[in-house]
Amino acid sequence: MANRYEKLQREWIELAPHWIEVSRQGGDVVRKGMLDAFMLAACGDVAGLRILDCGCGEGRFCRMLATKGAQYVFGVDNCPLMIEAARELQSDNDEYVVGDVQSLELIEDGSFDLAVSYLNHCDLPDFEANVHEVFRVLKDNGRFIAANLHPMRSAGCGWCCTPDGTKQHVILDNYFAEGERNFKMMGIEVTNFHRTLSSYMRAFLSAGFRLEDLIEPTVTPEALDLYPELDDELRVPNFIIYVLRKGNQL
Ligand SMILES: C[S@@+](CC[C@H](N)C(=O)[O-])C[C@H]1O[C@@H](n2cnc3c(N)ncnc32)[C@H](O)[C@@H]1O
Repeated sequence: MANRYEKLQREWIELAPHWIEVSRQGGDVVRKGMLDAFMLAACGDVAGLRILDCGCGEGRFCRMLATKGAQYVFGVDNCPLMIEAARELQSDNDEYVVGDVQSLELIEDGSFDLAVSYLNHCDLPDFEANVHEVFRVLKDNGRFIAANLHPMRSAGCGWCCTPDGTKQHVILDNYFAEGERNFKMMGIEVTNFHRTLSSYMRAFLSAGFRLEDLIEPTVTPEALDLYPELDDELRVPNFIIYVLRKGNQL
């Protein structure tokens, strides 16, 4: 199991320089043009909150939360290069540590008001472990905002195109075959994990979370004017955001 963990970690170490370069230029188009706005809206008013970011990468979203008035943002990522890069831009109220989000033993119970996971569950062989850990480290009534690849897309079948490359439709197949999917990102071989929507939901509910909202982001007309390459996002869902709460308070 340690070998598998290290293999997955190595993929991100290889990817990190490219990832950091794109993030330092403002981030990739789906984040800038679509996901960031949905994630920030789902987080709501973060002023004065203590926030945990699981799989924070080079800290881009942590810095956004800090800028929005969070009292303290703690980013955890198991790629040392990402954490080094995050620390380069660190301010007074954000902090970063190298660690595995599947076991957050350095964090005490009930430490955070809000936790986020911005496209990290698809990277984890044991995402349930992260869900249980996040539940433990949240305060009562704390929220967990988890953005992930949409299960219809993490199945990994891609677009069916005509010979001239025109996209016809997305193929959905092998949806119930959960497990590893291998593909290239920024020219590097990476591993993702596909699970069905019901597996995600069951894990959240059995950890004790209540589902407050389920968001399928799509592109707004304004964003489409700025980023016309996001037009696919009007056709099929690419991402999903689970808005979860520890406790029953409305
Ligand atoms: C798709 S990137 C997202 C980064 C960041 N959340 C963002 O949106 O820019 C996934 C991140 O998860 C990290 N990661 C993967 N497995 C992890 C693990 N077991 N523990 C902590 N971080 C992990 C990777 O190093 C990578 O930085």
